[in-house]
Amino acid sequence: MKNIAVIGSGTMGNGIAHVFAQHGYSVSLIDISEEALKKALGTIEKNLDRQVAKQTLTEEGKKATLANIQTYTQIKDGVATADLVVEAATENVDLKLNIFKEMDAHAKAEAILSTNTSSISITKIASVTKRPDKVIGMHFMNPVPVMKLVEVIRGYNTSDAVTTTIMDMSKKLQKVPVEVNDYPGFVANRILMPMINEAIYSLYEGVAGVEEIDTVMKLGMAHPMGPLQLADFIGLDVCLSILRVLHDGFGNSKYAPCPLLVNMVQAGHKGVKSGNGFYQYTAGSKDLVVATQFKKV
Ligand code: CAA
Repeated sequence: MKNIAVIGSGTMGNGIAHVFAQHGYSVSLIDISEEALKKALGTIEKNLDRQVAKQTLTEEGKKATLANIQTYTQIKDGVATADLVVEAATENVDLKLNIFKEMDAHAKAEAILSTNTSSISITKIASVTKRPDKVIGMHFMNPVPVMKLVEVIRGYNTSDAVTTTIMDMSKKLQKVPVEVNDYPGFVANRILMPMINEAIYSLYEGVAGVEEIDTVMKLGMAHPMGPLQLADFIGLDVCLSILRVLHDGFGNSKYAPCPLLVNMVQAGHKGVKSGNGFYQYTAGSKDLVVATQFKKV
């Protein structure tokens, strides 16, 4: 395993490319526009600079990492020599199914096809390929260069050999892989999203304000971010779509998304990426300011 292709250069894709390249793999980063790829390389360089500033990486290490990344705008070109493909495109089932059909047609027969999906069924994705035994979930956490976990998800047909290869490879990236089976939300989001939803319900029902809810969980449970801040960080649209997968997949009303979350997403308040959610965000500022809608009068 030397050549890795990463499809999608957004937050997760550029983080995944960063980590593979830093560990000596040759990475083909694929996105539909040159502009998106240029932006991703800029983000990777900025994040490598943080590591250099913290003296966890040398300037030579940074240069070598960047030299390990090539960019492509066509899937067929980017996956041609890959031993492993990691798909990290937008969380949309139809889009992912189309990408997997294309990957399957152009990647080497022995290549492993993985997805960073946070909740879409691995078994369903695998079913559109001719190699379901070589399809697996590789769910990294944001920010990828910092977070240690890789949730390795076995689809219904994923082989033991492929699972072992991906577990071993995750360790080579200095991550801690955890093997789980393919059921809605896997483990990470099956547990995380109900907590976030419950925090939103607590706000919606007036139990406490935004800062109070987050402070209880940060100081009381030693979480680095409170659940409402974390929801903004993940993206409120992403949280809503994962809750819908849990709700549909289990048919259990306990996963029904809070109406406040639905309203916020419909209003375009998606968290950090849109500049507003439970908090409001200003470029260049690290201050956490509660959004106007939730400020106490
Ligand atoms: N690349 C490289 N390094 C980064 C980075 C990035 N993108 N982002 C942060 N860092 C580094 C910083 O340089 C800093 O390094 P040192 O510890 O060496 O100083 C360290 O990470 C901490 O960063 P900051 O000082 O800027 O900020 P912080 O202390 O507030 O930590 C955080 C930021 C790491 C994001 C922390 O708040 C945290 O762990 N939050 C929770 C994150 C989390 O739960 N992620 C999972 C989300 S769920 C998911 O991803 C999956 C899903 O399916 C929804």
